[in-house]
Amino acid sequence: MSFPAYRPRRLRRTEALRGLVRETQLSTSGLIYPMFVCPGSKVRQEVSSMPDIYQQSADQIVEECREVESLGIPGIILFGLPESKDPRGTSSLSPQGVVQRAIEAIRRANLKLLVITDVCLCEYTDHGHCGVVEHGDVANDATVAILAEQALSHARAGADIVAPSDMMDGRVAAIREKLDEHKFENIAILSYAAKYCSGFYGPFREAAQSAPQFGDRRSYQMDPANAREALKEVALDLEEGADMVMVKPALPYLDVIRRVRDKFDVPVGAYNVSGEYAMVKAAAANGWLDERPTVLEIIVGIQRAGADIILTYHAKDIARWLRP
Ligand code: PBG
Repeated sequence: MSFPAYRPRRLRRTEALRGLVRETQLSTSGLIYPMFVCPGSKVRQEVSSMPDIYQQSADQIVEECREVESLGIPGIILFGLPESKDPRGTSSLSPQGVVQRAIEAIRRANLKLLVITDVCLCEYTDHGHCGVVEHGDVANDATVAILAEQALSHARAGADIVAPSDMMDGRVAAIREKLDEHKFENIAILSYAAKYCSGFYGPFREAAQSAPQFGDRRSYQMDPANAREALKEVALDLEEGADMVMVKPALPYLDVIRRVRDKFDVPVGAYNVSGEYAMVKAAAANGWLDERPTVLEIIVGIQRAGADIILTYHAKDIARWLRP
C-alpha cells in the first residue's frame, strides 16, 4: 500500500495517536545519576564545565540522594575525590575513604536507592592513570589485585553494585572471586565492558580531578574505530562473571549498544558521559539549543539503540520532565 491510500501522517495527528503507536517508552526506571563525593562536611562546589553537577561532601550527597529517590530514580553511581593520592591509589581501599563513608551515610539515611560504585584508580593515583605504573606502562595484573580490594571495600561499606571502569584485562574475574571469597556473592558487577578512549571525558576529569599527568589512556581504553572488538570485550566480561555490561560513551557508540543488545541476553547499560552533557548545557546556556527536547531526544535515542540502563547527569531533569 502506498500514497494516497497509505498516509503515515494519519497516525501523527494527535498526541493520543502518537502515544498509541510510540515504540520506545521513555522512563526514569533505568536511569542512574552520577555523583562526586569529596572530604569534609557542608561542601558543595559546582563543577565549572558541568552546570548543576557538584563535588560534595557525604552529608550533602545524602541530601541530594533524598531528592534523587523522591524523583523515582532507582540509583546513583559514586565517584570519589580522596583526601590524598599516591602512585598506587592506596586511599581507594580505606574503610574511611570518601566513597566508603558516603555509602555508609546513605545507608544510615535508610534510602532505598541502589548504590553503585565506580571501581578504578585514576581518581586516587597521583599520576592519574587507572592503574599502577611500572616501567612507564600501566601494569595490568598488579592493578587488578588492587581493584579487587577496592571493590571489596565498597561492598563492605554497603554498595549494591560495583562498576569497574579501569579497562584492565581480567579485572571482572578477580573482583568476582574476591567478593565471593568474602561472602559478598549477592553484590552485582556492572562492568564498563566497552569503554572507549574518548575526548568526551574532559569535563569528568575536572569533576573527578583524574586527568592523566602524562600520556593518555590508549593502552587500556578501546580504540573508537572498533566495534567488533567491543563484542569480544563484552563476551570476556560475561565469561568472567559480569552481571551487566556497559558501553561508554553513549552517543558516538549507538551502533555498539545495538550490537551488544542483539548479541547478548544481559542488561545493557550506556553512559551518557560528561562531555555529552556539557555540550548540551553549553549550547542551551547560549540559547542555541532548547534543552528539554534535546535531552529527551538523546535519551530516547540511547534507549532505542538498546540500552536498558542509562547513566546520565541529566537524570534529575528527565525525571522531573517525565513526571505525570
Ligand atoms: C574512571 C572513569 C572515567 C569516567 C567514568 N569513570 C574517566 C576516564 O576514564 O578518564 C568518565 C565519565 C564521564 O565522562 O562522565 N576511569
